[in-house]
Order: sequence, then C-alpha cells, then structure tokens
Amino acid sequence: MNKLVFKTEKALDEAAAGIIAALLQTKPDAVLGFATGSTPLGIYGELVRLHAEGKISFREATAFNLDEYVGLPRHHPQSFHAYMQKHLYDHIDILPQNRHIPDGSAPDPEAECLRYDELLRQAGRIDLQLLGIGHNGHIGFNEPAPGLIGGTHVAELSEQTRQANARFFPSFEEVPKFAITMGVGSILQARRILLVAKGADKAGIVRRALCGPITTQVPASLLQTHPRLTVLLTEDAAG
Ligand code: PGA
Repeated sequence: MNKLVFKTEKALDEAAAGIIAALLQTKPDAVLGFATGSTPLGIYGELVRLHAEGKISFREATAFNLDEYVGLPRHHPQSFHAYMQKHLYDHIDILPQNRHIPDGSAPDPEAECLRYDELLRQAGRIDLQLLGIGHNGHIGFNEPAPGLIGGTHVAELSEQTRQANARFFPSFEEVPKFAITMGVGSILQARRILLVAKGADKAGIVRRALCGPITTQVPASLLQTHPRLTVLLTEDAAG
C-alpha cells in the first residue's frame, strides 16, 4: 500500500488527477472506474481542466461507474447518471457508448446486474478504480455485512448511508433504499486502486479500514489485500 497525505484538498485533487492523466497519456484506451459522492468532485474538476488545456483526452477510454440508485431515472438530479454528466461527461470527450453506469430504472434490476457484469467482462480489467469510503467503511454500495458479494448486485442501503446521503435530497424519506453496485470482487480485480478520503470525519474509518483486521464488516478493509493500492488522504483524514 502506498499512502500519500496532502495538506489541502486541492493538492490531493491535483495529485489524483495527475495519476489518472499519466495513465491516459501512456494508455489512451484505459478502462477507468469512477465513483460519485463529494470526495471525487475536485478530482473531476482537475480532469476537466487538464482536458480543456489539451493535456488529456478520454476519446479512446472506457469508464464504469461503481453504482446507481434503484428507482431513480437517469435525468433525476440526484441520480449518479446526472452527477457524472454535470461534473465530468459534459466537459470531456469520452464517447457516450463508452460511459457505463448501472441503470437504476431498469425494469428488472437483477437482469441489469448481469448485463453490467457482462460489460465489465468484455472490457477486461479496470486499469484504475477511483474509490471513496463511506463512514461505515462501504466501498461502492457494498455495506458492512457478514458476507460480501463479488459481482454486481442489488444492495439494500444501510440507515447510516441513507442518512449520510440525505443531504442531497429534499427529505430522508426520498433517499432510495436500494442501489445497484459493483461487487467487491470486481473492485478488487482492478489493476490499480486509488482510495481517497477527505476530512476529519473520515479519520476513524480510514484507520479501521487500513490498519484494522480485514473483515466484511468494514468492506474497505479488503483493499488491504490489493497489490496496487494507493491511498490519498488529506491531513485531517489521516488523523
Ligand atoms: P462521500 O461518499 O464522498 O460523499 O463522502 C463516499 C462514499 O459513500 O463512498
């Protein structure tokens, strides 16, 4: 594990975007794994800037998102489809057919999970997976549990996760109860993983995930087994 600690969020964002940019420069057809939430916003801002300056192109790249809420249509402002459009895809040259996000409004979510796994299989391994971490140690929407699922599946969101995400919805009741998420097996198959955490409120779970026992009750702790894990932390998240 390679751990990098930054004084400011901006420095972290620049470093993370620099790692992604370096990959695209050496492998323009890279397969990227993207995340949503507050954590990667600044990183996407940096990628947009690097693209606008002509330093990187996503034209040959493919991207897979980790997850999507079940029941939210793509155009819903809180869908992860809308998030990716707004913060990244509207501003870069990635081809529409190469952007993959689970379809949370698919009539048969189980069939959608199988479709997503097939797309992942066809793409080969993800070259670089960007990850945030939930306060309960979730990655994607793989919540703490006695056992975890390897492939894409429908996950029930924990109360804690719904509370954390309620800030984006008019009320707690409107936060979806289920999501489609890539499984930990698919995440761990990525060639390289960038785990990013910002803020003092993440310090406790970062410590448990990286220094505690490997347990499905802290899904991010499984990342300790990954051969190419880079952890990027702000000073306060590093504790
Ligand atoms: P956050 O979410 O980036 O909004 O803190 C992280 C996560 O839940 O994985």
